[in-house]
Amino acid sequence: MIVAANFKTNLTRLETGEYLGELEGMLPKLEGVEVRVFPASSSLVPHKGQAVVGAQNAYPAKSGAFTGEIGLVHLEEFGIETILVGHSERRHVLHESQVDIAKKFDFFKENGFEIIYCIGEPLSVKEQGLDATLAYLQTQLEGIDLSYAKLVVAYEPVWAIGSGLTPTLEEIETIHDALKRIAGVKLLYGGSVKTDNAKAIMELPSVDGVLVGSGALKVENFFSMINDAITIKKG
Ligand code: PGA
Repeated sequence: MIVAANFKTNLTRLETGEYLGELEGMLPKLEGVEVRVFPASSSLVPHKGQAVVGAQNAYPAKSGAFTGEIGLVHLEEFGIETILVGHSERRHVLHESQVDIAKKFDFFKENGFEIIYCIGEPLSVKEQGLDATLAYLQTQLEGIDLSYAKLVVAYEPVWAIGSGLTPTLEEIETIHDALKRIAGVKLLYGGSVKTDNAKAIMELPSVDGVLVGSGALKVENFFSMINDAITIKKG
């Protein structure tokens, strides 16, 4: 089970350091549960512990003339080897195209990163039904090497992110089950995961973990979800 926190544009470097320190102090020895924390780029810190720190984004280049971006050298400086690619906010707010996203995927794959690759449908697509939703999700997998061993897919419906709305457990299971058949990879669910729904979501047979945004900004809440993951035994 993977429990991941996406801080987005929250928590300064100082706050991130305090968060990680507190979290490591709370964690029991983890077995079968992997923890990931994705701070803002300027809050990346070299971190040794059970939680693995990853990048929310980087430009697919070692370094160069890409104003405002960070590249591979900046991640290497902090020993970062895991990255989010294709997050809904990168797609819809920052207008990254599927071609841009596939290039980013390829670059970080070539550099051996663990890639948490995010996909998810907007509400207008969900309203068209399951077939339309699955067809849409497949377009977000175009150009992505699904056989990459360090690929984890996060299913995050756009309408569920930051909205307090979530699909029903049945809806999550249906989509994850279909995605398992299409992609055959580990699958996280994301979108308004909180302390009060994380356990039920993680208990679903085709869910391998959660990617949590606002619900993970307080360390005690994230820790509570990690604890939930610890208690779940899947065959
Ligand atoms: P949320 O965000 O938990 O605040 O809905 C999840 C995400 O965007 O990864």
